[in-house]
Amino acid sequence: MTTRIAIAGAAGRMGKVLIEATHKNSDASLAGAIVRPTSTLINVDAGEFGGVGKLNVKIVGDIAQAINQFDVLIDFSSPEATLSNIKICAAHNKPIVIGTTGFSDLEKAELLSYQNKIPLLLSANFSTGVNLCFKLLDIAARVLGDEYDVEVYEAHHRHKVDSPSGTAMRMGEVLANALDRDLKQVAVYGREGQIGPRPRDTIGFATVRGGDVVGDHTIMFLADGERVEITHKASSRLAFANGAVRAAIWLQQQKSGLFDMQDVLGLK
Ligand SMILES: NC(=O)c1ccc[n+]([C@@H]2O[C@H](COP(=O)([O-])OP(=O)(O)OC[C@H]3O[C@@H](n4cnc5c(N)ncnc54)[C@H](OP(=O)(O)O)[C@@H]3O)[C@@H](O)[C@H]2O)c1
Repeated sequence: MTTRIAIAGAAGRMGKVLIEATHKNSDASLAGAIVRPTSTLINVDAGEFGGVGKLNVKIVGDIAQAINQFDVLIDFSSPEATLSNIKICAAHNKPIVIGTTGFSDLEKAELLSYQNKIPLLLSANFSTGVNLCFKLLDIAARVLGDEYDVEVYEAHHRHKVDSPSGTAMRMGEVLANALDRDLKQVAVYGREGQIGPRPRDTIGFATVRGGDVVGDHTIMFLADGERVEITHKASSRLAFANGAVRAAIWLQQQKSGLFDMQDVLGLK
């Protein structure tokens, strides 16, 4: 069975690569591509825009125009657009894979409320390598414990609008959970001036923005006499796009509920 996939945020950096990844997956087909209602791409062939040749799928400016054509929506757009799209998916019983990051706590709560209605898969990062790193971080934090200072470093391209990255925040949650800490209490986002010695239980985040960096994350566990580092470097957005398509194919078989890439990869 082929999973018919529609892409929301199709005009974006991820959207374009998602068109390619969907087309190249033999278990999926592109069934819709949604952009802003004001976009000049409306009516352009999505395959031609995605660089894979004509697919006879016209780009649309309103999800309502594509809702009956697809089985699963993959949404990499903005918090505002994703919240509007999930409402329509829920009304039509369509599973949704969400890659958008940067939701406020309030927006996140609204998003999660849909898990009772439809299969909902959220992941701050869809690469297989990063999801393996989440698992490795959990193990490292439990083994190394409170004797090691934990710091998270991330770098992304100059266009990224949220900081720290959704992946860095998820890594922080994994670390805090393994160390039995509340991330909201212990997270430190940047340091400046006479800040005094480092409180032992803090988890520090450092952010670099520039150039075309697709996504680097390094987590350091620092103690007297040694340091452990776990690093992931993405060199192509296809790493995220292929994972999101794999997730969409998997999600089509699920009942309503909240899932992440760890479920898809069987890492739980
Ligand atoms: N989870 C992961 O693995 C992962 C990986 C990479 C990126 N991301 C996240 O995915 C999202 C997209 O990333 P990107 O690099 O592709 O960004 P991008 O190039 O800015 O693409 C976002 C797209 O969404 C569209 N959009 C934004 N607001 C909209 C609205 N209100 N209505 C309709 N369309 C709207 C934009 O339209 P316009 O072009 O008209 O502005 C744009 O085409 C970000 O939140 C990013 O952090 C997640």
